[in-house]
Amino acid sequence: MRFFLKLLFFFFLYYPSRNVFAQIQNQSAEASRLLKGLSLEEKLQLVIGIGGQAIPVKTPGAAGATAAIPRLGIESMVLADGSSGLRINPMRNNDSTHTHYTTQFPTGTLMASSWDTELLHQVGEALGDEAKKNGVDILLAPSINIQRNPLGGRNYEYYSEDPLLTGMLAAAMIRGIQSNGVGASLKHFAANNQETNRHTINELISERALREIYLKDFELAVKESSPWTVMSSYNKINNTYAPESFDLLTRILRQEWGFKGMVLTDWNGGNDIIAQQNAGNDLLMPGKRGQFETLLNAVKSGKLSLKQLDENVLHILTVYLKTPSGQRFKATVPPDLDRHAALARTTAGDGMVLLKNNDHVLPLRTRQTIALFGRSAYRATTDFTTKAFAYQKYESNLLQGLIDDGFSCDPAMVEIYHAYLKSEEKDAERPGVDMHQANAIKEPNIGDIDIESAADRADVAIISIGRTSNKGTDRKLDNDFNLSAGETTLIANISKAFHRRNKKVVVVLNICGVIETASWRDQADAILLAWQPGLEGGNATADLLLAKINPSGKLTVTFPLSYADVPSAANFPGANLSDALTVRYQEGIYVGYRYYTSFNIPVAYPFGYGLSYTQFNYTGLSVQTLSTGDIKISVSVKNTGSLPGREVVELYTRSPDKSMDKPARELKGFLKTKLLVPGASVKCMFTLSPLELASFDTASEGWLTEPGIYSIMIGDAASAKINGQFSINKAYRSGKKGNLLAPAQSPTDIKPPARN
Ligand code: BGC
Repeated sequence: MRFFLKLLFFFFLYYPSRNVFAQIQNQSAEASRLLKGLSLEEKLQLVIGIGGQAIPVKTPGAAGATAAIPRLGIESMVLADGSSGLRINPMRNNDSTHTHYTTQFPTGTLMASSWDTELLHQVGEALGDEAKKNGVDILLAPSINIQRNPLGGRNYEYYSEDPLLTGMLAAAMIRGIQSNGVGASLKHFAANNQETNRHTINELISERALREIYLKDFELAVKESSPWTVMSSYNKINNTYAPESFDLLTRILRQEWGFKGMVLTDWNGGNDIIAQQNAGNDLLMPGKRGQFETLLNAVKSGKLSLKQLDENVLHILTVYLKTPSGQRFKATVPPDLDRHAALARTTAGDGMVLLKNNDHVLPLRTRQTIALFGRSAYRATTDFTTKAFAYQKYESNLLQGLIDDGFSCDPAMVEIYHAYLKSEEKDAERPGVDMHQANAIKEPNIGDIDIESAADRADVAIISIGRTSNKGTDRKLDNDFNLSAGETTLIANISKAFHRRNKKVVVVLNICGVIETASWRDQADAILLAWQPGLEGGNATADLLLAKINPSGKLTVTFPLSYADVPSAANFPGANLSDALTVRYQEGIYVGYRYYTSFNIPVAYPFGYGLSYTQFNYTGLSVQTLSTGDIKISVSVKNTGSLPGREVVELYTRSPDKSMDKPARELKGFLKTKLLVPGASVKCMFTLSPLELASFDTASEGWLTEPGIYSIMIGDAASAKINGQFSINKAYRSGKKGNLLAPAQSPTDIKPPARN
C-alpha cells in the first residue's frame, strides 16, 4: 500500500511537468511546421504588426495586434496595455448591456511599495484573467524602468530606484499574469528613464551602471519568470537605438540570459527597421505603411537574411501558439470584477506609506468631524492612461471613502469644493476627466475657503495634495515637484488655524511621483503617502486612516530634501536637447539611495522607510557561511506594539572596496512578514550566494565578488535596526561577458568620498 502511495506521489509530481515539457515540444514543432508553410510575403506580414484603426474588432480599444494568416489557420494575436489595468474599450457596438469594464489597480510605484511578491502575483493573476476573458493575448506589462530622477513623467508606472526590488516584484507579476495562459510584455527594455525626447534621446551610460542598475532588474525578471515577450524601448543606449541593438536584444537578452520569447518594439520605436530585424527585434509595432516594401527589398538585396527573418517569425509563432488565440480559447464567463476590486483595495492598503505620525494622530477616532481640503480629496488623481479613457466603471475618492467608513465631513467644505470642481470641469458627463491633463485643475483660491470657521466646526483637518503625470512629458520642478504657492499657503493657513485650536492636521499625498516635503512637513502632524491608489483608492485610504489596515508600505524611492540633492539633477533630461539630444548618466551606479548613503547626503525620507501603527523589534541576527560558500542570514522580528501588523524586512550589505568603489548600501534581500499579532514573532531567513554580491568589473568585463569583510544592515537605507558581518575568503567571477553596449568614450562616472 505504501509503495503504491509512493508511486502515485511520484506520478503526480512528474506527470504535470512532463506534460508541460511535451506541450512545449509540440508547440515548437508546430511553430516550425507553420514556418515552413509560410511564403516570404506572409513572413513579412507576421513581423509587421497592426495598430490604430486596423486592429481587429475582436477586442476594440486594444493597442495592437499581429497579422492573421487565415490560409494556415493563424489567427491574429491581440496586444493591450497596461501596467495597472487592462486598457480596452468598455463598450462594443454601442451595446451597454454587455460591457467590458476592467479593474484599475494602483500604479506600479504603489504596488511595489507593498514589497509583497505574493500580492503582486495575485494582481498579475487578476490582470491576466481580465486580459484573457476580454480577448487579449499579450498584456503590455509590467513597466519596470528604474526611477532615475523624480521628474520622470512615467515613474508612476515604474516600480522603484532599486534593481533587485524591481526585478523580483516584476517576476512575481509576470508569473501571475502568465498563469492564465496569456503573455506578459516586460518593458521598456532598456533604460527608458525619461520622457523628454523619448523617441530620440541618446543616453551615455557606463557599462557598469548599465549592468548593475538599468539591466539588472530586467535580468532578474527574465531569469525568474520567463516572460513570453519583451518590449524594446525608444531611447538610444550609447548611440544605438535599443530596438536596433544586437548586443542588447540578442547577445545579452537571448544568449546571456536565456530569453526564449518574442521581442517587439515600442509603438513606432527606432529608426531603421532592417537593423531592428537584424538585431533580433522580432515584431515591429504597430506596423506602418512602407515597411513591407522596405523589408522585402532588404531580403532581396541580402541586407536581411532569410535565416534571421525565419528566426524572428519562429519567435512570434512560438508565442502565438501558447496564447488564447493560438489555443482557440473563447471566453464564456466575464471576469469577477467585484473580487478584483476587493484585491485592488487590499493592494492599495498594503502599499501606502505612513511618512509621519506625531503623537499618534493616526489612526483617527471614528465620529470625528473632518474638514476635507484639496481638490484630489474630491476627485482622486489616478493613473492617467487608464483613467483618461474611463476603462473602469467607477472610482472611489477620499470623501466617499471617509463617509463610508463612518466619518462625517464638514458639509460646508464639501459644498465649496463640489461647486468649484463643477465649474472647472468642462465635461459634465464624465466628471474628473479634464483633471488628467497633468494637474490641469488648480487648487481653489485660498481666499474662497473659510478655513477659520472650518477649524471651529471640525475636529481634524485632512489636506489632500494631488499630482498626475503621463507618458510623453517629464514633470516640472515648479508647481509640480515643488508645491505651488497656493498649496503651500493652504497647508500653512490650515495648520495655523487648526493648531491654534489644538486640533490636528493630516496630509494625504495622492501623487504620481516624488515631491518636495521638507519645507512644509513640520506643519503637518501626520502624512500618509497614498500614491495613485486605483479605483478603490478612496476606500483604501480611509481604511488606513482608521486602522482597518495597519500601514506596512515602505518607500521604493527616496524623498530628497530638495531637487538639487538628486544625483542626476544636473543631467536630466539632458543637455542641448534641441540638437544634441544627449543625456549623460554621470552619476553612474549612484542612483537613489546608493548615492545618498555613499555621499552622506541627508534626505527627507529614505528608501525603505515607512511607519506602522505598531512597532517591530529585531533580535538574534545569525550569519553562517555554508560549505557551498552561500551565506545564510536569519533574524527574529517581533511585534512589540499593540496592533496587528506586517513588517517589511530589508537586508542591505556593504562590500569591501578593493578594486572598485562600492555603494555604502545595496539591497540584497527583502521579505514581507505575515500579519503578526501583538507579541508574535517570526524568524526571517535569507540565503545569499557569493555571486549575488558581485559588482560589474569593467576591466575584466565580468561580474566579480571580491574577498573581504562584508557588513550587513537590516532596516531601511538610512538606518539599521540590527547589524552584522561575514567574510568572503576568495574571489568569485561569473565569466567574461565581452565588450557589450560599451560607450564610445570612457565614462566619467562620479566616485564617492574615500571611506574612513
Ligand atoms: C508606450 C508603451 C505602450 C504602447 C502601446 C507606447 O506609447 O510607450 O508603453 O505599451 O504605447 O500603447
